[in-house]
Amino acid sequence: MHMIDLIAKKKKGQSLDEQELTVLAQGIAHQSIPDYQITAWAMAVYFKGMTNSEVVAFTKAIINTGQTLDLSQIIGFSVDKHSTGGVGDKTSLVFGPIAAAFGLKVAKISGKGLGITGGTIDKLAIIPNFKSDLTIENFIKIVNEVGMSIISQTENLVPADKALYALRDVSETVDSLPLIAASVMSKKIAMGANLILLDIKCGKGAFTTDIITARKLAKMMIDIGKAFHKTVYAVISDMNKPLGQAIGNALELQEAWLSLKNQGPNDLKELVANLVGLALVAAKKVLTLEIGIKQALAMFESEKPLKIFYDFVAAQGGDLTYLTNIMQLPPCKYLLKVIANRTGYLTFTNNHALGELSVLLGAGRVTKTDVIDPMAGIYVKQIAGQKVLKDSIIMELHTNKVVTLHDSFVALATSAFTITVKQPPNKPIILEIIM
Ligand code: URA
Repeated sequence: MHMIDLIAKKKKGQSLDEQELTVLAQGIAHQSIPDYQITAWAMAVYFKGMTNSEVVAFTKAIINTGQTLDLSQIIGFSVDKHSTGGVGDKTSLVFGPIAAAFGLKVAKISGKGLGITGGTIDKLAIIPNFKSDLTIENFIKIVNEVGMSIISQTENLVPADKALYALRDVSETVDSLPLIAASVMSKKIAMGANLILLDIKCGKGAFTTDIITARKLAKMMIDIGKAFHKTVYAVISDMNKPLGQAIGNALELQEAWLSLKNQGPNDLKELVANLVGLALVAAKKVLTLEIGIKQALAMFESEKPLKIFYDFVAAQGGDLTYLTNIMQLPPCKYLLKVIANRTGYLTFTNNHALGELSVLLGAGRVTKTDVIDPMAGIYVKQIAGQKVLKDSIIMELHTNKVVTLHDSFVALATSAFTITVKQPPNKPIILEIIM
């Protein structure tokens, strides 16, 4: 079997069978297929798609390139939550402690930032000494003792996804639905948690920009889950504006910390409450989603989640004084203000631009080897849909980048919103729930 024939088949819109997909996944994992042929095949998938059975077979083939975890030693109901990636998305840092406060076991593998979207591992990595490369034994021990643990993808877990992902990132093939679905679900199934909880981001700051495509992605992932006899619940959440007010690693860690003290933004709280509510239903701890959401909202008032967060960070070696002093971190050298040029209502029109800007300010990577600037990012001072006054500050841009770039940063920030005379309709954060 030659790779060139597999590319030709996909180019003509035909599906690959199980045997062909196995050869392909093994070749990706063991680097026996050259990168240019893998990316040519990925581009053919981008244009021609995959059938349902093909995407399931490809997911299985990717999983079989590495180890699968046995989480049976986790005592209680285990949950693995995953977002398809968004701007300002610090949900996992709040979801974990709130869910664990109910006795749920949050066992999560997270990734680094990708393109314009931030990653949980990058946010945790700025806490001095925090370790995300734990042994599986240690991971399970922390989940049992603390209620949550977040680790990075190990070398042995779905290596084909790791390799393919790196190639997709640089070949404009990230936003292919079957490739996203197989990538996310292969990791989640290899992890083996009782519940896979998906947060499918939808809007200009996400890989799926409209609701029809987001629904298609949700269905594809749920169907993969069904083929592996997994319980998968999903929310589709709005990404036409940043989640919360902070974008950037330390700024988001601050916002997550505030949220765990019940002083965070409402959209983040509502999203987390819905996700925790779904997990409580799946774990049969409540009868209805409404009750689950209500209980999750009430849990924000407890001191328990913040304690769990501290215990989790300490268990993974992190310096707790960094967290307790998180609001006093030394700022970036430059703080650029983006000012309202008129009075009116704030609407974000291009959330993608804010994601792009956060990377340029230093909060993300342009190349794989770039080092992240922990303090760089954007703080949105105003709430979307609310009235802003002329000359008030819409956003603050935190950066250590050279002064010659500053005007272009402010221009990019300004291109991301409009101020309208009429108040826009209130948009909910949760667009749909699928269970
Ligand atoms: N997250 C993943 O793990 N894979 C994708 O393809 C997109 C988001």
